[in-house]
Amino acid sequence: MKIAIIGTGNVGGALAKGWSKKGHEILLGVRDPNQFKGKELLQLPSVTAHPIAEATKLADVVVLSTPAKEVIQVTKSLGDTTGKVIIDTMNSIQRSPEQTERSTTEIILNHTNTKDVVKCFNTTGANHLTNPVFGDQVLDLFVAGDSTRGKTIAKHLALDLGFAECYDVGGNDRFSLMEEFALFWINLAMFQKQGRDIGFKLLKRNH
Ligand SMILES: NC(=O)c1ccc[n+]([C@@H]2O[C@H](COP(=O)([O-])OP(=O)(O)OC[C@H]3O[C@@H](n4cnc5c(N)ncnc54)[C@H](OP(=O)(O)O)[C@@H]3O)[C@@H](O)[C@H]2O)c1
Repeated sequence: MKIAIIGTGNVGGALAKGWSKKGHEILLGVRDPNQFKGKELLQLPSVTAHPIAEATKLADVVVLSTPAKEVIQVTKSLGDTTGKVIIDTMNSIQRSPEQTERSTTEIILNHTNTKDVVKCFNTTGANHLTNPVFGDQVLDLFVAGDSTRGKTIAKHLALDLGFAECYDVGGNDRFSLMEEFALFWINLAMFQKQGRDIGFKLLKRNH
């Protein structure tokens, strides 16, 4: 798959590493191709850097992993997204009072022309995206959105990273729930001092 990653820091960098290893073509969408966080990613197989609109144009899937406060500007910088799937990994930790949307994903939908926008990869620490294995347990991921196509691709990409399962938590009306779930992780990890080596798994009893 051709995957553009916009935001090449902790999350975008980890996703690039994991998917490059699985044989995907990674197009890093950056503001300055000569200087950006994660420039060392260019040493990985099939990883190249491009201006953001060019990376978007060349890709089938566009992953957004910039700070949430940049979401409008970043979404506009993608250019024409017709026919693309957008996967939003962002969490708005602090929302500005004038913001009416309840998640970054709703903001993306309001500023782009594809409806295939889903939220995924936001509910665990970036440190687990390249290694979701905890002893004999493997973390799960979660995806939300109205786009069946987007959810199928996000799930496929989650399993490629080694996650055990990627559960469908519902449609666009679950975007804010996904951010709340991420804040639950942040609360436990940071404020309740459990540390970043924690993650979520759905347990099921077999009858
Ligand atoms: N860190 C985590 O554990 C974690 C887990 C789940 C979700 N998230 C969410 O994922 C997102 C990214 O977090 P992160 O920790 O990966 O951040 P980060 O390490 O600070 O990386 C941010 C990236 O965004 C780029 N960027 C910033 N403003 C931009 C703009 N206007 N246009 C294009 N690119 C821009 C930066 O590019 P430059 O190199 O040019 O500065 C950098 O590559 C956040 O929304 C966060 O809430 C984080």
